[in-house]
Amino acid sequence: MHEDHAHVGLDWFRAAVPYIAAHRDRTMVVAIAGEAARSPVFPALLRDIAQLRALGPRVVLVHGARPQIEVRLRDRGLTPRYAQGLRITDADALEAVCDAAGRLRLHIEGLLSRNLGSPSVAGTRVRVASGNFVTARPLGVRDGVDFQFTGEVRRVDAMAIERLLDDGQIVLLSPLGYSPTGEVFNLSGEDVATQVALALKADKLIFLTEAGPLRDPEHETLGQLTVPTAERLLADNPNLPEELAGHLRSAIEVCSIRDLRVHLVDRHIDGGLLIELFSRRGIGTLVSREPVERLRAATMDDVGGIFDLIQPLETEGILVRRSREHLELEIDCFQVLDADGLIIGTAALYAFPEAGTAEIACLALHQDYRGGGRGDQILEHMEALAMKRGHRQVFVLTTRTAQWFQERGYQQGRVDDLPPGRRALYNQARNSRVFVKHLG
Ligand SMILES: CC(C)(COP(=O)(O)OP(=O)(O)OC[C@H]1O[C@@H](n2cnc3c(N)ncnc32)[C@H](O)[C@@H]1OP(=O)(O)O)[C@@H](O)C(=O)NCCC(=O)NCCS
Repeated sequence: MHEDHAHVGLDWFRAAVPYIAAHRDRTMVVAIAGEAARSPVFPALLRDIAQLRALGPRVVLVHGARPQIEVRLRDRGLTPRYAQGLRITDADALEAVCDAAGRLRLHIEGLLSRNLGSPSVAGTRVRVASGNFVTARPLGVRDGVDFQFTGEVRRVDAMAIERLLDDGQIVLLSPLGYSPTGEVFNLSGEDVATQVALALKADKLIFLTEAGPLRDPEHETLGQLTVPTAERLLADNPNLPEELAGHLRSAIEVCSIRDLRVHLVDRHIDGGLLIELFSRRGIGTLVSREPVERLRAATMDDVGGIFDLIQPLETEGILVRRSREHLELEIDCFQVLDADGLIIGTAALYAFPEAGTAEIACLALHQDYRGGGRGDQILEHMEALAMKRGHRQVFVLTTRTAQWFQERGYQQGRVDDLPPGRRALYNQARNSRVFVKHLG
C-alpha cells in the first residue's frame, strides 16, 4: 500500500520534472486577494508559494487587503465609501488602510518564514523582502468624485525588485504606493500586480481567485483563452463575478502590451497553484496573446480536419482506412488537438462496456508537431477519459508503433484477450499487435 502511494508520488514528480525545468528562473507575479488571508487554509497557500520559489521561479507576491481594511474602518466607526468600484480614501481611511495592509504584510512574512521542510532542511529558509518599490499618483477627481488618497501605480522600481529576486528572495508587495513627496496612497492589488508584471517583463501573472474558476456554459473550467476569446467572454457575460471580470480585463491589458501568460487559479483548490504550473493539464484558466492548443471532443465540423490529418497515415498503412462517412458516424468517439482551429492531433475511444475496456484508436499527430510530447498528451487524455467513463483498462492495436506504446506502460496482449465484439472485427491480414494497459 505504502509502495503504491510512493509510486503515485514518483509518477507525479517525474511528470512534473519537465515543468520544473521549464519554469526555472522564470519571473512570476502571484496575486492574492485579502479574503484569502481569512481562510483557514491560508498557511497552506503560502507554503505552496514558498515551495514554488524553492522549485526555481522568481516570485513576486502581491496581496490585497480589502476585507481587512473594512474591519479597521468599522473599528474606527467609519463607513467604507466607494465610487466607480474604487475606495475613496480620506485621511482617516488611509490610517485604516496602512494599519490593515501593514499587519497583513507582517502576517504573510511570518507565514512565509515557516520552515518548508519538517524537520528543517538546509537551504529551504525563505527570505522575504518588502519595500517602497511602487511609486503612486493620486487618482484625483473623476466624474466629480475626489478619491483623495486612493491612487494608481505611476512607476515600479523594477531594478530594485530584480536585485532581490536575483538574490533568491520572494518580493512581497502590499496595495500601497508612495509619492515622491512622501505621501502614501491606497492602490488596488490588481493594479499593483499587473503593473509590476509589466515592469518586470514577467513570464507569468497568476491571479489566485476567490470567486472560483472561470467556467464555460457547461460548467467546465475554461482551460485556455486567447485575448479575443477573453474579450468575447467579457462582452457576452455581463453577470460574470466582478473579480473574475477584473482579472480578465487585466489579462487582456497586459497581454496586449507584452506576450506574457496570465493564469486564473481557484485558490480554494488544495495545491491548485502547483498543479497549474507543474502538470500538463493544469487546473485553471490560461490567458495568452497567441492561441494555445487545446484538446477537446470532436464535432461534425472537425471531420474534414481529421480526415486530412489521418489520410497520409492511412496511405502509409499505419492507420486503418476510414472514409468521411465513417468518421461522421463515429465522430462522438473522437477527440482532437486543436491549435487555433487547426486539427493537429486526434484519437478515438471505442467503448466495450461489457468487457470493462475501451480501445484507443486512430492516434495521430500532424507531422510538423511530432516529437514535442503531444503524443503523450493525447494518450494521457484518452486514458483519463476512459477512466472517467469507468473503464478499468484500455487496449490499442498497432502495426508499427508497438515500441512507443510499450514505453508508455502498455503490455503485449493476445488477440484472444480482445472483447468478443472487437475480436470479430479483427483484421487477420493486417496482423496488428495488441497492447493493453490497466488504468488507475
Ligand atoms: C505516435 C505519435 C502519436 C507520437 O506522437 P509524438 O508527439 O511524436 O510523441 P512524443 O513526442 O510523445 O514521443 C516522441 C518519441 O516517440 C518516438 N516515436 C514516434 N513514433 C514512434 C513509433 N512508431 N515507434 C516507436 N517510437 C516512436 C519518437 O522517436 C520520439 O522518441 P525520442 O524522443 O526518444 O526520439 C506520432 O508519432 C504519430 O502520429 N505517429 C503516426 C501515427 C501512429 O503511429 N499512430 C499510432 C497508431 S496505433
